[in-house]
Amino acid sequence: MKKFTSVHDTPDIHALIERAIRYKANPLGDRQLGQGKRMGLLFMNPSMRTRLSTQVAAQNLGLEAVVFNVTQEGWAMEFADGAVMNGTTVEHVKDAAPVLGQYVDLLGVRTFPGLKDRTEDYSEFILNQFIRYSGVPIVSLESATLHPLQSLADLVTITELRQKKKPKVVLTWAPHIKPLPHCVANSFAQWINAWGEAELVITHPGGYELDKQFTKNASIQNEQLVALQDADFVYVKNWSSYHRYGEMPPVEGNWMLTSEKLRTAPEAKVMHCLPVRRNVELSDAVLDSPHSIVTRQAGNRVWAAQAVLAEIMKTNF
Ligand code: CP
Repeated sequence: MKKFTSVHDTPDIHALIERAIRYKANPLGDRQLGQGKRMGLLFMNPSMRTRLSTQVAAQNLGLEAVVFNVTQEGWAMEFADGAVMNGTTVEHVKDAAPVLGQYVDLLGVRTFPGLKDRTEDYSEFILNQFIRYSGVPIVSLESATLHPLQSLADLVTITELRQKKKPKVVLTWAPHIKPLPHCVANSFAQWINAWGEAELVITHPGGYELDKQFTKNASIQNEQLVALQDADFVYVKNWSSYHRYGEMPPVEGNWMLTSEKLRTAPEAKVMHCLPVRRNVELSDAVLDSPHSIVTRQAGNRVWAAQAVLAEIMKTNF
């Protein structure tokens, strides 16, 4: 694996899931793999899980992790080609990325979409410049449109807990107070489709259709209660509109997931990537019940990241 930015960089999803599960059983078994190597973790947005789980994963592999919170600690970065930098930006990615490539052996990058220009966001404009200019393998720590480390952890969690070979997995839209990116939903659909071991149903209000390149043949159901029936896993997530890009079209009814809505899915395990807005996206009663597996899911971020970093090191070093 030369880089890790989407499911398409993964030669064998099943092997990667198995590797993550092996690391969970034996975290320090490959401690020699990263000896003498250094990983940079560059964040342009806040993070708890991605930052810490990737650091822990790197340390488990003997890699030294160096964290750089660009927006708080760095120079304001410019990404536009040909920009006349007489405004607020101070350093162009063309100059910064190769320098970072001198300091570290692989680089993790987190960036968010602007949610203003769909073409620009969906071209992965920022992430691709790090790939182009850094000269080292790049690991996406969440990009404008995808969150592959999260999705791998999600598949590890489903693999651990499924009671049947092909569980029913429902991705349900949830309310939020502000427009959010599509990354987690896009990525989850992309990975579930590529994995092929679940029946994927996506439920959302009209106006919140996702990009079909990620949802592919998933069943789309606009009635949340119909979608939830007999679900084995329910993944709760908000996203803003794709077609009215970055907007929040009005929604009828209350889409927050509650215990009452899970009556027809008594065995359902409830997932969320976190952070979650309690009693907006998901009720306290669900989050604090045995339905919720969000802590396990977040815990599995370590093993997913460790499997990816190991694969990258084996390929590139
Ligand atoms: N799920 C997730 O990526 O969490 P953080 O934003 O805290 O990293």
